[in-house]
Amino acid sequence: MVKASKALDRVLVLEMVRVTEAAAIAASKLVGRGDEKAADHAAVEAMRAAFNELEFDGTVVIGEGERDEAPMLYIGEKVGCGQGTGPKIDIALDPLEGTTITAKAGPNALAVLAIAEEGGLLNAPDVYMDKLAIGPGYEAGLVSLDRSPTENVTALAKAKGVKPNEIIACVLDRPRHEKLIAELRGLGCGIVLIPDGDVAGVIAVTNPDTTIDVYMGSGGAPEGVLAAAALKCVGGQFQGRLLFRNDDEKARARKWGVTDLDRIYHLDDLVKGDAIFAATGVTDGSLLEGVKRRKGGCMTTESVVMRASSGTVRWVKGEHHKAG
Ligand code: FBP
Repeated sequence: MVKASKALDRVLVLEMVRVTEAAAIAASKLVGRGDEKAADHAAVEAMRAAFNELEFDGTVVIGEGERDEAPMLYIGEKVGCGQGTGPKIDIALDPLEGTTITAKAGPNALAVLAIAEEGGLLNAPDVYMDKLAIGPGYEAGLVSLDRSPTENVTALAKAKGVKPNEIIACVLDRPRHEKLIAELRGLGCGIVLIPDGDVAGVIAVTNPDTTIDVYMGSGGAPEGVLAAAALKCVGGQFQGRLLFRNDDEKARARKWGVTDLDRIYHLDDLVKGDAIFAATGVTDGSLLEGVKRRKGGCMTTESVVMRASSGTVRWVKGEHHKAG
């Protein structure tokens, strides 16, 4: 049972939707325009402006990069107009999760964020993370990053009461996953290969309508923390292990306080205590509908906002008549 946080006042739940809506609307104007950078920039600017309207003392702990490389929403940046007076909140954000998807008008681009009390979110370095996620209702420890994909699929199939070849896995379509995909194909599993957007991919395991049973493979570590925040609210299991391609990445991790480089992080290591997760669809996807521009200029949005301590999940449809 997660204890409710006073700092994450209930009001903030709905305020977070305003923030992701603003970023999604800004990015939506660049859907299908072939310009990843412009779409990302628009989302970042809009998210930052929306945060700065809010009466809280926020610190970005997972953001658009480090101060010297990212001009806005960098790690350590202060946001919110209650600096020194409002509740202290740590923020993980991705104003546009799926920049390439947006540029190509593909599925599942999101504006996404998670907030927790100060110190509640893992300061994940921008390296890859090996991820393993299953939906709610399974015994703790049923699957593990320490076991092979075959062992995990077999255990999951047994617990679900199906054959391994009836298990559906979601995997990022990358050459680095060739071996994993071959192993899953060898078991006869169905594989949903996604081009990008593993936050939505991981969350898909919690929604039976997607038919996805398990998420496997590596993607960004910051995206891992964001997805973990969502699973902490709706249930399900998530494990992540940081992957390092060189010494520079290891040094970066140490800089952010990571001491055990081989550690497997579980939900409560990635997101401690109460948390709020919010996302708005930029393009249509398995989680949310994308932003639509209606006749007369009205824009419609679909968002989801959830809170760990209450387990409440709210789906919010927005009509924005003056969104430009
Ligand atoms: P961006 O929004 O930064 O483009 O990230 C998209 C994404 O697909 C993430 O969802 C995923 O975690 C990561 O990229 C995977 O990285 P790579 O493209 O290097 O495999």
